[in-house]
Amino acid sequence: MKLPYAEPFKIKSIEMLKRTTKEERVKLIKEADYNLFNLKSDYVYVDLLTDSGTGAMSDKQWAEIMIGDESYAGARSYYKLKNTIKDLLGFNYFLPTHQGRAAENVLFSVLVKEGDIVPGNSHFDTTKGHIEFRKAKAVDCTIEEAFDSTFIHPFKGNVDIIKLEKVLQENPIEKIPMVIMTLTNNTSGGQPVSMANLKEVSILCKKYGTKLIIDSARFAENSYFVKIREDGYQDKTIKEIVKETFSYADGMTMSSKKDAIVNMGGFIGLKDEELFKQASTFNIIYEGFITYGGMSGRDMGALAQGLDEGTEFDYLESRIKQVAYLGQKMKDYGIPVMEPFGGHAIFVDAKKFFPHIPQSEYSAQLLGVELYIEGGVRGVEIGTLLADRDPVTREDRYPKLELLRLAIPRRVYTNNHMDYIAASLKNVFDRRDEYKHGLKILDEAPIMRHFTVKLDRI
Ligand code: F0G
Repeated sequence: MKLPYAEPFKIKSIEMLKRTTKEERVKLIKEADYNLFNLKSDYVYVDLLTDSGTGAMSDKQWAEIMIGDESYAGARSYYKLKNTIKDLLGFNYFLPTHQGRAAENVLFSVLVKEGDIVPGNSHFDTTKGHIEFRKAKAVDCTIEEAFDSTFIHPFKGNVDIIKLEKVLQENPIEKIPMVIMTLTNNTSGGQPVSMANLKEVSILCKKYGTKLIIDSARFAENSYFVKIREDGYQDKTIKEIVKETFSYADGMTMSSKKDAIVNMGGFIGLKDEELFKQASTFNIIYEGFITYGGMSGRDMGALAQGLDEGTEFDYLESRIKQVAYLGQKMKDYGIPVMEPFGGHAIFVDAKKFFPHIPQSEYSAQLLGVELYIEGGVRGVEIGTLLADRDPVTREDRYPKLELLRLAIPRRVYTNNHMDYIAASLKNVFDRRDEYKHGLKILDEAPIMRHFTVKLDRI
């Protein structure tokens, strides 16, 4: 008999979960104004709101917590992290920050000016926010195939090289401080970028004289997909693929809360000393001295260890196989999910799940609410609520895809939880025709409304 797959780790510490009844959840979600962000986590059984900062650290990471050096300047833990970043990612210069968006804030304070253009592959919200806040423009050059939820393409995170070159050609290059490549591409469904595509982008950046910056939150998951799906990489280790990935970049921003498997932290990696010096000033103003930047010594130690573990094939295989296990289970139930399955999450297509409920009634949010009521499972809407209103017309903006994201925390849940999630969603799916109406907004903030919006059933 062929032996089945099993995880390459065992569990040393556990946290008990509370259970609520369906009747309680009907009441709780109403009290939360049908906004999943308003729920107390104690009332959530399986929490798939995000894979950011929600992972389980290893025994070796916890050991780092005990031996952290908390010196203000020049701490041992800082040098441990600096050496790991140099050895693993190839950046001579680095700045710690408290999380990913802080790294964006510091680096963009140097690079982005009013009127600039920053092309890329579907920038993440905070990245776009930091660009637009500086009155610059983020231009999305992702391949068209990414917007068809069922089209099978191994690298749906890729940039359309023709679209990108057009942007570089048609604008003065002094207005384009960088191209940002997001690995994996969260916004388009946790989809990877191929090495070939990254190489082509880097050639274009050199040809036109601009920088290539990698938004690296899920760079290790991206490298796993390169190894599995791209010709010529099968025999390379993840660490070799990671090294090649960053060899094409001038710099990187990192949210360590994802692929480095820590609960908080971020950093900037740079190759150019002058840019590092300029960014250091902003790091000191916004984050802290350049050898801690908003992180404690112990957290830098755990992060260094996490970077090493997070770039091991066995771990990544267990991680991505678990996400795919959930996706396949849902697909087998006939639930419309985005394909290929993403690295960190399964995205449910609400337009296909509830074809009779219009986007104006926030169908993906309704799906999130009903999944919570059914099983105490919390996902997050990536649809019309998140897309917000047009700043000029104040009308709702309707995105091409109306999705419920189920992000899987790293090393936290078992496949029994995956079965439970899929069964909960199947029960909602079997009743889908009984839901006649979606939700309406009672109250909302002028921007980033999804965090605090108050909703009610129509
Ligand atoms: N870049 C990407 C691709 C991200 O997914 C995130 C965060 C960030 C940057 C910002 O990092 O949260 O450490 O400040 N994504 C989280 C998510 C919030 O749920 O997808 P941060």
